[in-house]
Amino acid sequence: MSRFYSDTVRSITPYVPGEQPKDRSFIKLNTNENPYPASPMAVAAIHSVSGVEARLYPDPEVADLRRTLAAYHGLEIDRIFVGNGSDEVLAMMYPAFFNRTDTIAFPDITYSFYPVYAALYEIPFTAVPLSEDFTVDFRDYPNTLKALLLANPNAPTAIAVSAGEIEAQLKLRPDTLIIVDEAYVDFGAESVIPLTRRHDNLLVIQTMSKARSLAGLRVGMAFGNPELIRGLECIRDSFNSYTLDVVAQRAAKASYEDVAYFEQTRRAIIATREKAVAALAAIGFTVLPSSANFVFCTMPGKSGAEVQQYLRDNGVLVRRFNTPRIKEWLRITIGTDEEMDEVLRLLRLFVQEKI
Ligand SMILES: Cc1ncc(COP(=O)(O)O)c(C=O)c1O
Repeated sequence: MSRFYSDTVRSITPYVPGEQPKDRSFIKLNTNENPYPASPMAVAAIHSVSGVEARLYPDPEVADLRRTLAAYHGLEIDRIFVGNGSDEVLAMMYPAFFNRTDTIAFPDITYSFYPVYAALYEIPFTAVPLSEDFTVDFRDYPNTLKALLLANPNAPTAIAVSAGEIEAQLKLRPDTLIIVDEAYVDFGAESVIPLTRRHDNLLVIQTMSKARSLAGLRVGMAFGNPELIRGLECIRDSFNSYTLDVVAQRAAKASYEDVAYFEQTRRAIIATREKAVAALAAIGFTVLPSSANFVFCTMPGKSGAEVQQYLRDNGVLVRRFNTPRIKEWLRITIGTDEEMDEVLRLLRLFVQEKI
């Protein structure tokens, strides 16, 4: 502990990312990465960056990529913000829209970065318990909130709410900013990006880390009405105007142009997930309905920590959150068919050995 630490550093508990082992022999199903490589068009774009281009600062407006995103979603470019991963977009969203007197609410079980940012910016937050079955019941959220933040599908539960349910809330709470984090939307939920045109209290956040296989490049987006986007730009330009490097800008654009590859890999993951869900249930796991590239499951009567350790000892990493409601649950990222076959083989062995 340095005597120079600020009160923030002294008091905050930072987010702990999933392990990134140096030993590549692990089957890595702990951070919801895509098991397939980035689009060959994105890889070609990475290689296309010249020394001359690297010499210069990247485009602070990220205009080429935003134009591609605008065409893809049928929006105007001033409705789109791009940042260094959706974590950064989230980090800019807090100071852009909230004061220390505002309250932001999100489920008690959700992406664990949300409360960390709230603590960093000293924004009061309410963690509203999910229902017994891990679904969101909007009636549990007070009407006086400045903001409601929802991951859809939620993480780590993988459960989605419909666009219709979200639109009902947008209408019911016109003075609440509803932020929908759609990191996993392409694996089975319905995006509410089209609703941003009709509702000025909606901000949608997405990422290229999951369905686009670009976690290593760090590209995240926000979609909303132009005033909301300008708020994010104001924070970015008060912090770091060049958050997205030239390689990431070009590869992200190429990735969006390769629609066929995106569809092929996304569908492959969904198909593998459906097989994995059935197989886990057959082994005896309770599995929540998944609209994401991961499944959330528990084996009644077995310790989550023990199952996780058994998998780790046998070369498979999965994620577990050591909080009271979900400590017996595992979040298993969907890998390739072969990787899932290996996990399922190990889980069958675990059950046999521990009877
Ligand atoms: C719900 C959710 N939102 C945002 C992120 C951050 O994604 P990135 O910063 O890679 O865009 C994650 C990553 O796991 C996530 O699970």
